[in-house]
Amino acid sequence: MQKLNNRYTITAALPYANGPLHIGHIAGAYLPADIFVRYLRLRKKEVAFMCGSDEHGAAITIRAKKEGITPNAIIDKYHELNKKTFEKFGIAFDMYHRTSEPSHHELSQEFFTKLYEKGEFEERESEQYYDEEFNQFLADRYITGKCPKCGNESAYGDQCEKCGSSLNPTDLINPVSTLSGKTPILKKTTHWFLPLDKYQEWMEKWLVEGKKGKWKSNVYGQCSSWLNQGLQARAMTRDLDWGVDVPLKGAEGKKLYVWLDAPIGYISATKQWAKDTGNDWEKFWKKQENPEDDSTLIHFIGKDNIVFHCIIFPVILHAHGDYILPENVPANEFLNLEGHKLSTSRNWAVWLHEYLESFPGKEDVLRYALAATLPETKDSEFTWKDFQTRNNSELVAIFGNFINRAVVLTHKYYDGKVPERGEWFDYDQEILNELKGYPDLIEEKIVNYKFREALAAMMEFARLGNKYLAETEPWKLQKENPERVKTIMNLALQIAANLSIVCEPFLPFTATKLRKMLNIEAYEWDLAGSADLLEAGHQINKAELLFEKIEDKTVEEQVNKLEEAKKANAGGSPEVTPMKEEIKFEDFMKMDMRVGTILTAEKVKKSNKLLKLTIDTGIDKRTILSGIAKHFKAEEVVGKQVTVLVNLAPRPMMGEVSEGMVLMAEDSEGNLQFMQPGAEVNPGSTIS
Ligand code: MF3
Ligand code: ZN
Repeated sequence: MQKLNNRYTITAALPYANGPLHIGHIAGAYLPADIFVRYLRLRKKEVAFMCGSDEHGAAITIRAKKEGITPNAIIDKYHELNKKTFEKFGIAFDMYHRTSEPSHHELSQEFFTKLYEKGEFEERESEQYYDEEFNQFLADRYITGKCPKCGNESAYGDQCEKCGSSLNPTDLINPVSTLSGKTPILKKTTHWFLPLDKYQEWMEKWLVEGKKGKWKSNVYGQCSSWLNQGLQARAMTRDLDWGVDVPLKGAEGKKLYVWLDAPIGYISATKQWAKDTGNDWEKFWKKQENPEDDSTLIHFIGKDNIVFHCIIFPVILHAHGDYILPENVPANEFLNLEGHKLSTSRNWAVWLHEYLESFPGKEDVLRYALAATLPETKDSEFTWKDFQTRNNSELVAIFGNFINRAVVLTHKYYDGKVPERGEWFDYDQEILNELKGYPDLIEEKIVNYKFREALAAMMEFARLGNKYLAETEPWKLQKENPERVKTIMNLALQIAANLSIVCEPFLPFTATKLRKMLNIEAYEWDLAGSADLLEAGHQINKAELLFEKIEDKTVEEQVNKLEEAKKANAGGSPEVTPMKEEIKFEDFMKMDMRVGTILTAEKVKKSNKLLKLTIDTGIDKRTILSGIAKHFKAEEVVGKQVTVLVNLAPRPMMGEVSEGMVLMAEDSEGNLQFMQPGAEVNPGSTIS
């Protein structure tokens, strides 16, 4: 049996509430975390399993611009969707909180203030990139460029997702604003920096020395290589209008850096949960009087989050002083899909909420297929073919078949009552010995974050049961030696009862069904390995199918769906231009737009773009130069009713003066259409 702590604080990365969840998210953080937590709960440990929506940062505002709705509408939409999706998939968080909650804003501000008062920040005026067209400083995801460390052309202003390095926007080579697509200028601004360099030595001791051989090599290796390059100060504030307000005089309009507030979300989630359930949150986060009473903190994340959870957040917790530090950060690599990187924008993904709709009752099948291919040490791959094989050849043919035989035969021979064991043969004894060994083996793999191997051992255990029945053939033996069959069936049912315990972390829906069939309550893990879980005479229920075969047709449909996504990408998906900055109603009211009729049109000489139009605006007849000559011939526009911005200041163009603007609809490929009333109206009709 493994030595465990009594209390655990388990976190899974807060997903941005800017889109639905796909299998890559699940395989990265949530499924391994859930397996681990379910195991701890079976071991009767005190556990707080915390997650929630990350609702700040450019990820949200950029998405809102894309969809043409407010950031609030975005986070509400995806928070609800993701929360429900996790629940349906059996990811059993104790709390799924939101960083937009006022309680989270308060706690983040408290953290900032505490560090500020301890003198942990350096206030610095520096030059930062600024988009002149959008009047906005460009932090984090608002700016991209070439990574100075690995050459990745599309690194973000705060991080390169390819090599994982944490960056500052000024580190980027050829920086470009993601808003306007233009090269930004530098402009002065003030921010509060956390001098990570001050903690270099401490980090080397805590992490490089302290975690050697304990953390997964992919995580440890990344961290030590960053530490070798030397830590640098990072700004903990941003010039943005979305996020947690910086609680300082003189910092009005500035927000906390999203990677400062987001991990604090784990703590605010715990506080909320404790409040709701009458628990004490501090024992899950704060150092206790006796260090032996400290909770064990473990962060489950994907590899793109390593620097934040292994370096920046621990420094923040350490600088604060009252908090425990992560014991481990078992980050996973990435999951690929059918030979390609998962991509939200290219729709190359298996969306979890869509899976749950297409495969009702098959939550565990996907859990199984994903757990079998978790990217634990290197990137791995999900294919629908593998999904089908895992289901048909393992879940159905081994696990399901074994349980079904055991339960059906028990009903056939003993009216569903567990038979008394008779004499042990050598072979039964061998099986019994193996039975005793499996739970420890599975457990040993789980506590070392080797979930793939743990799952394989679980399936081996089911295979043992299946093999036992296949080799002893009780259905042939029953006539000739019913006493021996009683022993066999008793032992087979004990294996089934054991499986109901050890499969629970991976296949929780199946475990529930299995317990129902065996007519038992949930046992704790400590009992696993016993051949006396079911007493002789115990009545079991009728057999139910645990898994069913998945046909070729079904997986072909899924592959076709992906193929279609590919085609749609090749044809250029209909992108929309990002939304412009918010304006006030008064701003809108300043524009005077009218319906006008085009009276005459001619090409402007020396220009291949401009048509010179005379327009009856109802107010007057005026000249407007319009850049539509590539799209419309002069003769075809005469007589059309169009929308005109009539109070635009006159602008000289190509030796003429344009007195207004004709409004056009333009798609992302530059195709133009006139904005016309649905039916003819009088020239001069206003538009509002
Ligand atoms: N939202 C981040 C992402 O999806 C993860 C945040 S984890 C937390 O990459 F620690 F900040 F909460
Ligand atoms: Zn890089």
